[in-house]
Amino acid sequence: MQEPDQPSTARMIDHWLGGRHHFPVDVAAARAFEQAYGPCAPVFRELRAFLGRAVGAIAATGVDGFLVFGGGVPTMGNVHEAAPEATVLYTDVDPVTIRLGQRILAGSDRAGYGFGDATDFGTIDRAQLHRFLSGWGRRPVGVVFLGLAAFLDDATLTRTLDELYEAVAPGSYLAIDFDTEELAGYPQALAMMGPQFRMRSPSSFRPLLGRWTPTRDGIVPVTRWRPEGPVPAVPDAFHGGIAVRSTG
Ligand SMILES: C[S@@+](CC[C@H](N)C(=O)[O-])C[C@H]1O[C@@H](n2cnc3c(N)ncnc32)[C@H](O)[C@@H]1O
Repeated sequence: MQEPDQPSTARMIDHWLGGRHHFPVDVAAARAFEQAYGPCAPVFRELRAFLGRAVGAIAATGVDGFLVFGGGVPTMGNVHEAAPEATVLYTDVDPVTIRLGQRILAGSDRAGYGFGDATDFGTIDRAQLHRFLSGWGRRPVGVVFLGLAAFLDDATLTRTLDELYEAVAPGSYLAIDFDTEELAGYPQALAMMGPQFRMRSPSSFRPLLGRWTPTRDGIVPVTRWRPEGPVPAVPDAFHGGIAVRSTG
C-alpha cells in the first residue's frame, strides 16, 4: 500500500500494541509523542484490554452483532477478535485505515469494514449495515465508540449519541470512553493532538450520554472497569464503560 502523508492515531496505536499494520509516518509520530509524554504502550494495552472486557461483557448478554465507529486497525484484540462468534461492521473516516482494515478482513464472512462518519449515521452503507447486522433496528446490537469522543465537541457528541440511541433497538449496548485531563500536564503532547482534541472530567462527560444509562459498573478508569486481576499501575488517561438503551 502507498505510504500516506499523514500519521493516524489508530495506526500509532497499532504500533504501540506491537501490530504490523502501520507506516513509517505513524511510527515517527508515535515516537515524537512519546518524547513529549512518555511510554504509551502500557496505556494503550490497557485500553485495548478494556475493549476486550467491554465487548466480551456485551456478547455475554446475548448480543451477537457489533457496529464499530472509529474502528481503527482491526487486529490486536479488536472487536471481532474479542467476540469471535459475533458479526462486526467496522467503520472509520480515514481512507488509508479503511483500506488496511478491508485488507485484514478480506475473506471473513463475519466482519467487514466500510466508511462511516460517526456524526452522520447516513454515511454508512445500508447494504453493509444489513449484511453484518441482521435485524438492524429490531435486534439489540453493541455499538463500540472507543477512541472517538475525544475528537468531538460536546454538542456534536451529545447529538451523535442521541441519534444512535434512536437508531438502535431497545436492549442495545454502547461501549464508550473519553480522554481524561492527563495530557494537561504535557503541553507539547497535547498540542500534537490538534485543536479538535477534547479532554474531559468525569462530571462533564456523564451528561453527554443523554438517555444511554451506564451499567452499575459506571464510567470509570478503564483499568478499573471489571478488572480480571490486580489493577495495573498505568496513568488514568482514559475512562470508559458500557451503557444501555432501555427496553422500556
Ligand atoms: C484514537 S483512534 C481509535 C481507534 C480504535 N477505536 C482504537 O481504540 O484503537 C480514532 C479513530 O477515529 C477515527 N475518526 C475520527 N473522527 C471520526 C468520525 N467523525 N467518525 C468515525 N471515525 C472517526 C479516526 O480516523 C481514527 O481511526
